[in-house]
Amino acid sequence: MKKDNNNIYVCLNSNAPGTKFHKERKKPSLLRKLSEDKYHQSNWESFDYFSYIKKQIEKLNVNELICLDLGCGDGRFTEFLINLGVKKVVCVDSDYEALYELSQYSKLKKFSDKIEIYNSGVEDLSNIPNYNYDLCLAIGILYYLGENYENGICEIYKKIKNNAILISSEPNIEAIALRSLVFDGLEEMLMNFLENSMKEDNETNIRFPLLYKNEIKKMYLRSGFVFIDEGFITLFHQFLRIQLVKNNLSKESLEKNMNSLNDVFKKLSNDSNIIKTYLFTHKQI
Ligand SMILES: C[S@@+](CC[C@H](N)C(=O)[O-])C[C@H]1O[C@@H](n2cnc3c(N)ncnc32)[C@H](O)[C@@H]1O
Repeated sequence: MKKDNNNIYVCLNSNAPGTKFHKERKKPSLLRKLSEDKYHQSNWESFDYFSYIKKQIEKLNVNELICLDLGCGDGRFTEFLINLGVKKVVCVDSDYEALYELSQYSKLKKFSDKIEIYNSGVEDLSNIPNYNYDLCLAIGILYYLGENYENGICEIYKKIKNNAILISSEPNIEAIALRSLVFDGLEEMLMNFLENSMKEDNETNIRFPLLYKNEIKKMYLRSGFVFIDEGFITLFHQFLRIQLVKNNLSKESLEKNMNSLNDVFKKLSNDSNIIKTYLFTHKQI
């Protein structure tokens, strides 16, 4: 397979709901870029994601790690892994625009020689090279596969090496339903619980599976993974961001209270029971 002029291998074959969702939206999901905004949810959450990933891999030989970043977007976690010193990251996303951003950014930051970029759906990894992957990140991606959620987990199991680590993030049904109740109304909340489905936002009508934690864990077990650790991202950051976007909070009031907010964020990094996103670490056995 040949790279295009932007250093991207194009092998897009995806009809998954997440691919359609990102195509229908006005803007791509550029969470690395957005995290540069100190009033953005992605900025507030990134610290917790980074600490969790770091904790999971520091027992490994970091400089030797060959990694797969599935649903990499514009490379928030790819850059983090590179900065930690991993050997290589293979980046996969179905959104060309996000990958273009990653490609340009990696040149600017001089890590393009450490990454390979594939424009592909993660539900079919057959076009992705068969390196001996030690670590796979699937952050904010697998529920986007809709009815292929579990197949996606099986694909990863086959792709990565024995004993490799998979870190995934999964939505918490109760928090999503609470968000629906507060911001979208009773019907959406009931759909979350009774139809086990969620909307990501109001820009499209595309819905994604929303499962209870035990059901999610069972999918990984059925696919062959062994569960080894669990972390979390609090719901607070998202509520704060929505309040800002809805003009119920101003940037000035956030700015004025930034020191206190940072203290709160630190506390919530260590201890939260209102969890928006579970972080799971699994081992390929
Ligand atoms: C919420 S963003 C997460 C990006 C990145 N992991 C991060 O957290 O910064 C989800 C990403 O998944 C990608 N995506 C959605 N469905 C996909 C699919 N079927 N195959 C590959 N990528 C997909 C989107 O294009 C988007 O970049």
